[in-house]
Amino acid sequence: MGKKLIQVEHVSKKFKDESALKDISFSVHEGEIFGFLGPSGSGKTTTIKILTGQLAQTSGQAFVLGKPVEQIDESIYEQLGIVTDNSGLYEKLTVYHNLSIFAKLLHVEKERIDNLLEKVGLFEHKNKKAGNLSKGMKQRLILSRAILHQPKVLFLDEPTSGLDPVTSEAIHSLLEELKEMGTAIFLTTHNMEEAAKLCDHVALLNDGLIVEHDTPKALTLKYNQDKRYQILLKNEKELLLPHTTESIEQINDWLRNDELMTIHSCEPNLEKVFLEVTGRELI
Ligand SMILES: Nc1ncnc2c1ncn2[C@@H]1O[C@H](COP(=O)(O)OP(=O)(O)OP(=O)(O)O)[C@@H](O)[C@H]1O
Ligand SMILES: [Mg+2]
Repeated sequence: MGKKLIQVEHVSKKFKDESALKDISFSVHEGEIFGFLGPSGSGKTTTIKILTGQLAQTSGQAFVLGKPVEQIDESIYEQLGIVTDNSGLYEKLTVYHNLSIFAKLLHVEKERIDNLLEKVGLFEHKNKKAGNLSKGMKQRLILSRAILHQPKVLFLDEPTSGLDPVTSEAIHSLLEELKEMGTAIFLTTHNMEEAAKLCDHVALLNDGLIVEHDTPKALTLKYNQDKRYQILLKNEKELLLPHTTESIEQINDWLRNDELMTIHSCEPNLEKVFLEVTGRELI
């Protein structure tokens, strides 16, 4: 594994008498996509705010790019990308201009703007005012701005919430590309499918506590208690069979007689894991 670019040690956060985060620890390495999953109010945005120097923790320590978060300043901001709800755009400026302002500030070559606009499918809209873009287009522009300078660490607060599958897919490919280049990506999401597909590791957050932390695959296998085969036969009959010797003989028969259409194992998805661990739906 590469360098630890985000390190969080026993961080807690209290708002008056409410504990929003209770003793959180994890780390994110170079080239890793880390998913922070949890229902509304579980403390995801609070964590991002602490890690980006917008909010002070109550106790514990956190480091981004090796620097304590209390000391985050301009020099670190140049290596960070942040996408949150309040990542405002200059509504009256064009798409291109919104990016060129940042390109100048961050010493990014102008060619990269067109290149990025192509990738996120905004090239033909580059002369439109940002204020006139659709929601999905705005989201892609906000992301483009956050990654214009190829940050070493990227924080994304629900980057694809409410977007169509094609737009989400475009964003996913961009994230994969950044990961390949070594960016550490910290992502919050309610979307378990997205997390399972994209993330190297996920932490499940509930009421300010990390209740599970592993690879998506390991988590789904760990909670695969009720092992069954889901069978579809060519005669359109559907069956759920337990993992027994009889089932295997039966399946062999169907295979020999060419009667089997599909067969699936039924490990739970991350959504079911979350429900099992916390007793809560992920909404
Ligand atoms: N500035 C604040 N002052 C007081 N309480 C706050 C503040 N910010 C957050 N909280 C509380 O901390 C808890 C966690 O909030 P947070 O925004 O981190 O949740 P979240 O996981 O991002 O939720 P969502 O999925 O809805 O975005 C909530 O109970 C919220 O009311
Ligand atoms: Mg939030």
